[in-house]
Amino acid sequence: MSIKETLIKKLQEKEARIAVLGLGYVGLPLAVVFGKAGFHVTGIDPDARKVDALNKGVSYIPDVKTEVIAALVKSENLTATTDFSVLKEMDAVSICVPTPLRKTGDPDMSFIMSAAKNWRSMYTRIWWLCLNPLLIPAQRARSYSPC
Ligand SMILES: NC(=O)c1ccc[n+]([C@@H]2O[C@H](COP(=O)([O-])OP(=O)(O)OC[C@H]3O[C@@H](n4cnc5c(N)ncnc54)[C@H](O)[C@@H]3O)[C@@H](O)[C@H]2O)c1
Repeated sequence: MSIKETLIKKLQEKEARIAVLGLGYVGLPLAVVFGKAGFHVTGIDPDARKVDALNKGVSYIPDVKTEVIAALVKSENLTATTDFSVLKEMDAVSICVPTPLRKTGDPDMSFIMSAAKNWRSMYTRIWWLCLNPLLIPAQRARSYSPC
């Protein structure tokens, strides 16, 4: 079976391990959607306060209810960590890190480049990578190229 077929099978059977990198206004709701769909999702964020809150079953984003987070944590469909080495165990990673605009109007790519350093070393295991930030195609190409 090819890598693609294996990944599709794992996704269909909800056995794929999914990571969301960056647990903010985009990343946390996305992690909830995957968790509600029955996947085991690992949220990774350098902000230990966010990680601690989630592992205690508490939401810090108004649109995401604490009851929802508590249920997903209890069912082990959602866990959070500051430890990027868990990327080694993941099949799919969704990148939701900030891209604030500079004075020039260009997005600050430093968060993506910092996240890239973490995922690059784990690349043998990750089969699917999704970059969520709002970027124009040329910027996307530049941010993927170090991989
Ligand atoms: N908020 C929106 O409505 C919206 C809509 C569409 C697209 N976007 C895009 O989605 C991306 C995320 O936006 P947001 O609003 O969720 O930002 P946010 O600031 O709410 O969340 C970003 C999270 O990423 C974490 N982070 C920072 N560096 C990291 C790293 N190296 N590795 C892992 N996590 C890291 C931060 O601690 C934070 O929790 C941005 O690029 C934004 O342009 C946002």
